[in-house]
Amino acid sequence: MKILVTGGAGYIGSHTCVELLNAGYEVVILDNLYNSSKKAVDRIEEITGKKVTFYENDMLDADAMESLFSKEKIDCVIHFAGLKAVGESVAKPLEYYKNNIQGTLCIVEAMRNHGCKNIIFSSSATVYGDPAFVPITEECPKGTPTNPYGWTKSMLEQILTDLHTADEEWNIILLRYFNPIGAHKSGLIGEDPKGIPNNLLPYVAQVAIGKLECVGVFGDDYDTPDGTGVRDYIHVVDLALGHVKAIDKIKEKPGVKIYNLGTGNGYSVLDVIKAFSKACGHEVPYQIKPRRAGDIATCYSDASLAKKELGWEAQYGIEEMCADSWKWQSMNPDGYKD
Ligand code: NAD
Ligand code: UD1
Repeated sequence: MKILVTGGAGYIGSHTCVELLNAGYEVVILDNLYNSSKKAVDRIEEITGKKVTFYENDMLDADAMESLFSKEKIDCVIHFAGLKAVGESVAKPLEYYKNNIQGTLCIVEAMRNHGCKNIIFSSSATVYGDPAFVPITEECPKGTPTNPYGWTKSMLEQILTDLHTADEEWNIILLRYFNPIGAHKSGLIGEDPKGIPNNLLPYVAQVAIGKLECVGVFGDDYDTPDGTGVRDYIHVVDLALGHVKAIDKIKEKPGVKIYNLGTGNGYSVLDVIKAFSKACGHEVPYQIKPRRAGDIATCYSDASLAKKELGWEAQYGIEEMCADSWKWQSMNPDGYKD
C-alpha cells in the first residue's frame, strides 16, 4: 500500500514516515521545505534503512499535484502540510487561509481526479476552543478558535466532512492532536523550530542547552493545581503510531471518523520544567510572566475512543518525552542546520 505523506519532512510527518516504513508501507513525501529540511528525509531513510520517494513541491501547485498523482498510485493520503504558528496566523491571516485551505483543496481535487478517496487529516485540540468540559471527548462541541490557524483546522474538518456527504466513497479520519513533544529515540529527527520557539517544549529545550536564558511561565494564577497551564503532552512517536492505526481503520472504509490523540493526562508548565530539568541533569531556570493572550487553563483528552476503535494508546510518559527531546536537542543544537 502506497501512502502520500504531505508535510512529511516536518516534525510530526517525519516521525510518521518512520513508523509507516517500519510497518511495511511504501511512502511518498510531498513537502515544499518551507518549514523543514531535506535532511529530515535523509534521516528517515537512515533510521529505517528504506527509501522514500520525495517530491519537493508546493501543494498549491495544481499541475504538480496532478503530475504526482499520475505518476504514483496513491492509496491513502496523510495530510500534515500546513502552516502552524498561532501568533503568525493572527498577523498573516490571508497567508494562512490560502496555504492551509486552498492547499488542501488542491490535494483533495487531485485525489478525486485520480480516484484516491482516503485521507487522514492533522487536526488539533484547538478546535474545541475553551473546552466545554475536561477530559475532552470527541462529543465535546467544537468551540470558537481564537486565531486564523485554529479556524483553518475547524474549517478544513467541515470541508472534508462535506466531501463525504456528497460522495460516500470518501473515507476521512480527522485526528485531533493534543500537544506533541519529544523526538525519535535515535536523536536523528525532532522538532526544529525556526527562530524563537512559540511552544513550551522547544523553548525549554533551548534554555536547557544555553541558547536562551530563561523560560517565561505564562501565568501562575490559573485555576489549576499549581496555578500554571495544564496540557496533554504526547510523545511524537506515540502520535506517529496513531497514524499507522488510522491507516488500518481506513481500510475498513469507515466514512468520517474523529479521534482525539492524547494521553489522557494533564501536566502543568512547572511539571514539564521539572521533568526536563531531570532529563538534562540541571535546573532549567524560569520566571513567572503575565498570562499569554488566548491561552486556556486546562486542556487534556479523554483518549478512550482511539483505544476502543483504533486499538491505539499512548505508551510514553512525560519523563521519556523530555529525555528524548533532550537527546535530539543535545545531538543537534542547531537542528538540521550544519
Ligand atoms: P511542521 O511545520 O514541522 O510540518 C509541516 C510541513 O508542511 C513542513 O515540513 C512544511 O514545510 C510543509 N508545508 C507547509 N506548507 C506547505 C505547502 N504549501 N506545500 C507543501 N508543503 C508544505 O509542523 P508539524 O508540527 O509537523 O505539524 C504537522 C501538522 O499537524 C500541521 O498541519 C499542524 O497544524 C498539525 N498540528 C500540529 C501540532 C503541533 O503541536 N506540532 C498540534 C496540532 C496539529
Ligand atoms: C498551542 C496553540 C495551539 C496549537 C499548539 C500546537 C495557542 C494559544 N495554542 O497550544 O493552537 O495547536 O500550540 O502547536 O498558542 N507556555 C509558557 N511559556 C512558553 C510557552 C508556553 O508558559 O514560553 C505555556 C502556555 O501558557 C501553555 C503551555 O505552556 O499553558 C503550552 O503552551 P504551547 O506549547 O504553546 O501549546 P498550547 O498553547 O497548548
